[in-house]
Formats: sequence, C-alpha cells, structure tokens
Amino acid sequence: MFIKTDCNAVEKMIKQLYCTAGAGMEELLAEEVQQKLCATQVEQIPGRVFFCINADLQNVTQLKSAERLFLLLHKAEPISLPNNPAKAAAVIKQRVVGDPDIWRQTFLTWTSLQQELQCCQERGQKRKREDEEDSLHAPSFRVSCRCSGVIARSYTSQRLSRIIGMAIKEDLGWKVDLREPVLEVNVYLSDDHCIVGIPLLKNPLASRSYMKHNGLRSTIAWAMSSLCPKKLNDCVILDPMCGVGAVLLEAAQEYSNAVFLGMDTDVSQLEKAAENIKASGMEGRVQLLQSSAMEIPLADGAVDAVLCDVPFGRKFSCSSDMPTALPRLLKEMERVLRVGGHLVLLLSLQLSAQLKKTICAQEHNQNVNSLETKNVHTDLSNTHYESTDTTDTPKLLTVHRSSSETSNTPLLIRSLQAQKKHRVSLGSTDAFIHTYTKIQT
Ligand SMILES: C[S@@+](CC[C@H](N)C(=O)[O-])C[C@H]1O[C@@H](n2cnc3c(N)ncnc32)[C@H](O)[C@@H]1O
Repeated sequence: MFIKTDCNAVEKMIKQLYCTAGAGMEELLAEEVQQKLCATQVEQIPGRVFFCINADLQNVTQLKSAERLFLLLHKAEPISLPNNPAKAAAVIKQRVVGDPDIWRQTFLTWTSLQQELQCCQERGQKRKREDEEDSLHAPSFRVSCRCSGVIARSYTSQRLSRIIGMAIKEDLGWKVDLREPVLEVNVYLSDDHCIVGIPLLKNPLASRSYMKHNGLRSTIAWAMSSLCPKKLNDCVILDPMCGVGAVLLEAAQEYSNAVFLGMDTDVSQLEKAAENIKASGMEGRVQLLQSSAMEIPLADGAVDAVLCDVPFGRKFSCSSDMPTALPRLLKEMERVLRVGGHLVLLLSLQLSAQLKKTICAQEHNQNVNSLETKNVHTDLSNTHYESTDTTDTPKLLTVHRSSSETSNTPLLIRSLQAQKKHRVSLGSTDAFIHTYTKIQT
C-alpha cells in the first residue's frame, strides 16, 4: 500500500532535522535556521546543528551556511564498544539501532518529506512509483558510519558500518544495497555523541548549481556577507579580487537590491566569473572589470561595502608578495569605501598574523607618535586588536608602511573600526573573516 501524502499536511508536521556544517560555521547556521525558518530546539555541536521546524521543507533547502540536510532518527548518549565483535554487535543493536518502530516511523516521515520536496519542485531523482511501493515496508539501505575518539581506535568506520547494517537487517528485515539503496543511513559515533540520520537530499545544500567554475567554498563566501555588520540592500558592493565570483554571487542572492562590481587582474578568472554570473541569472546586477586591487579605478567613497577573499598560497599568484602588499591593498579598499560602509576580508592565518604585525589597535584620540607610551601594548602579538572578536569596543587601526617603503611614519587608517573576527575552516586550512566599518575621522 502506498501512502499518498497531502503536502499541506506534511507542511504542518514538526520535523526534527539536522544539518552538517564546516568548522566555524555552526553558530552562523544556528542563527540562519532561527531567522529564516523560525526553528525551535536549536542545538549546535561541532560540525552539526539540530533543529525542529514546521515550516515548508522547501525553505530548508535554501539554507546557505549548511553542508548537508538530514532527518534525525536518533540522538543519544555516546556509546563505548567492547573489543569482542559479538559483544560490540549486541551493544550496537541495543544503543544504535534501538527500537525498530522508531526506524519504521522515521522511514514513513522521510517518504512524506521526499514527496513534499517533489510536490514543491521536482528536485533530485524521482524514484519509480513501483519501487516506492515495494520498498515501503522494507526499504533497501546502506550504512555510512563516521567515528572518532576512543571507538575509532578499535573499529574502522567500514567495520562499524557493516556491524550496524547487519543489526538493522536482523531487527527490521530491511535489505542491504550498497549500490543504489533507497535509504542512506548516516551514523556518527564520537566520544560525545551517537547520532543517526537519513539525508533528505541527494546533493549537498552547499553545492550551488550555477557555479560552473568553483571558487571559494559557497558557505564561506555566504558567511562573508552574512558577517557584514549591516544589511547591504540598496548598496554598491565591490570585490576587488573576485576570482570566479563566489563571494559576489552569494552576496547578490542575499541582497536582492544591491549592485555588484567584481575586479581581478586575471582575464581567465573573469571569464569564468562571467559564466557563473550568467548561469545564476545575475547578469544585470554584477559587472566585471579587469583591474588591480592595488590601484582601484574608482573615486574615493564610491562603494558601500568591500568584500574580499585575499589570495594566499600557491593557487593564486599575485603581482606582489601578499604580506608586503597587504597594507597598500587595505588602504586602497578603505579609500573607495564610503564613510559608514563595511569592509569584510577573508585572510589566511598567515595573513591575519601579518595584519596583526602591521596593524596595531589605537584609541580614537591617541597620538600616532605615542605608540610606545604607557597606554599601548608594546608587544604587538598581544595587542587588544586580537580580542575584538566578539563584544569588545571596536578599535581603530594603524597600518605601518611595509619595510620596502621609505618612510617610517605609520600610514594611518584611522577610519577603519575593527568589528569582528571569525575563524572558519577552508578544508585543508583555516582562515579568519575580519570585518571593519569605516567611520568619519
Ligand atoms: C583567492 S582568489 C579569489 C577567489 C574568489 N573568491 C573566488 O571565489 O574565485 C584571489 C584572486 O585574486 C586575484 N588577484 C591576485 N592579485 C590581484 C590584484 N593585484 N588585483 C586584483 N586581483 C588580483 C587572482 O587572480 C585571484 O583570482
């Protein structure tokens, strides 16, 4: 028997979901589900955010900071497994699989949600109706287990996946299908958590269909505009090192009344950016220009916000050594920013440290020449600038000329107030998103 679901009825159902998130993105994701979905029971743990909604599931698919979306089946206390495989299998049956009725009910909910997703929009692959009917009572499944901590010392993820799969098969009578299962059962076992969920979408939420050429990870690109101190509607927004345009396109979707300008010295990057812009349908709102960020061809105060993913490492070359170029780059971005505008920079840890060396915090009325006096930290690695991450009073910045420049006089950017500093993971390395507001001096 196939249960035909009324989409409106599913919409009213409370759904217990969770999303995975990159390191440093959990807090932003928790805020996003609260703001955009009015989610309740929001709880974040490293790498995951749990929440309940009775909103349309289609809205959940629009989340920008999440990696993947799951229907929660089971969230329990962490388990410890004996080394003896038979005893371990018994613990898994009891603690990871638990009550078969919960699995059956969750599968029904998952089926309804799949229909809701298809009702609203033909997303993902629609399975054949007969397959659905066949699999209603005994869906085929595959287990993907990830483990860390103590358990990972005795068991590999693969071995655990097999043990859990056997337990589900025995207790529920579901069929294992490693190639094309109806259900993918995701299990996460760590020293702190035992979580079981079922993905609701085939593709990650983080993959954007219009990005024909990938640049900065979309979730991080989105975080840059999201961390901007103020909403950026009716604005002119500049990315002076735009690459393939990931930052511009994430911001363009978030701020529908803003217009965007992307610059890059590399024509091939600009060509890819143009293709991405076309695929996203944003041609009318995003302009591109070949130009150097070191000499931005715009008048003083011409833009309302500057968002910039500053290159580092070997992948992107820069005409000058970036740590050396950073003060000039910063000065140029500050120049084209209007008073009240915002600057958001994504900097590698190394460039952040460089910024820390070349920039020191100052009080509003502090005299430049009294840097070494009693009011100022003489050890720059300990300056107050570092502690502006959260609630501290914003500080003013002083950029010193790089050693290659002739004068020893500090090059003041008195107008930039540090707001926040947020650490995120780029996969193989971490980076900081720094935010500033330009004030009248
Ligand atoms: C880290 S990538 C930006 C990646 C971009 N966020 C994306 O999603 O593709 C930095 C970009 O800066 C560009 N670039 C390097 N030096 C530059 C300069 N002086 N002026 C403008 N762009 C520059 C590189 O060509 C590269 O495309």
